[in-house]
Amino acid sequence: MKVESVMVTGANRGIGLEFVRQLSRLSEPPKFIFATYRSPDTLKDLKDIEESSKITKIILIKMDVTCPQEIEAAKKLVEETVGERGLNLLINNAGVAQPGFFPNITSESLSLHFKTNTEGPIMVFQAMLPSLEKAALVQGSDAGMSVSRAAVINMTSMTGSITNTGFTFTQDLAVPSYKISKAALNMAMRVAAATVKDKGILVVMMCPGWVKTDMGTAEAILEPEDSIASMINTLASLDETHHGVYMDNEGIPFPF
Ligand SMILES: NC(=O)c1ccc[n+]([C@@H]2O[C@H](COP(=O)([O-])OP(=O)(O)OC[C@H]3O[C@@H](n4cnc5c(N)ncnc54)[C@H](OP(=O)(O)O)[C@@H]3O)[C@@H](O)[C@H]2O)c1
Repeated sequence: MKVESVMVTGANRGIGLEFVRQLSRLSEPPKFIFATYRSPDTLKDLKDIEESSKITKIILIKMDVTCPQEIEAAKKLVEETVGERGLNLLINNAGVAQPGFFPNITSESLSLHFKTNTEGPIMVFQAMLPSLEKAALVQGSDAGMSVSRAAVINMTSMTGSITNTGFTFTQDLAVPSYKISKAALNMAMRVAAATVKDKGILVVMMCPGWVKTDMGTAEAILEPEDSIASMINTLASLDETHHGVYMDNEGIPFPF
């Protein structure tokens, strides 16, 4: 895998932060990582990685995925930086999960989850599309589909599966707004995948597994290092057969 430029949303903690750390330490690391955050007060860990990064230039961008002005400013900065080489990889990672049991789901909770987990990734994808198109063009159609060419990886969750009504389906009723928003994200990205297929931009929906982060809690099974190492390994193997697929961190397809 040789990716020149990557954007990771929600990169100041959890899975996004670990993505930035591991991507910047690849044997052939990206030239640029655009790492987005919301509050300067949460930047210590990301700044430590930025300062110790030897080859990769890590560019910190303030971007709330629900804020059109900040998305527009990020788009400009990415375009100015990557120019005609384009953006190779967008990792739509930022997300939110808050409890709220049915039948007491509030409109505010639904709205927060939909805006952050569904609408946000769509808007960021649309804003980065011209740069992703440029990256896809640089290598041309002979290169097939890959994250080294142009790709959008959406951090989804298996809790968003409608088909999977097993054990976790009822357990996850504690976060129904989250489940709904991730199911909607999967649909949105299936549609986007069909739309950009001819442009050579690979789109996948990937579940990181149950990971020890603020969202996953200390009860989770996976350490962030292991989940992200597995996902990066999978990213390197993705091709056109994975386009529009909902998968786990090893690339194994999961039913919608
Ligand atoms: N951890 C798991 O077990 C698990 C399982 C399945 C899927 N996922 C998915 O993996 C992704 C990352 O999860 P995580 O475990 O790392 O969560 P986390 O530890 O709670 O971190 C969430 C990140 O998203 C950012 N964020 C939240 N709302 C945002 C907004 N409106 N605009 C921009 N950034 C925003 C947060 O920024 P602030 O610091 O500013 O809040 C933070 O950087 C999410 O999409 C999640 O649904 C996680």
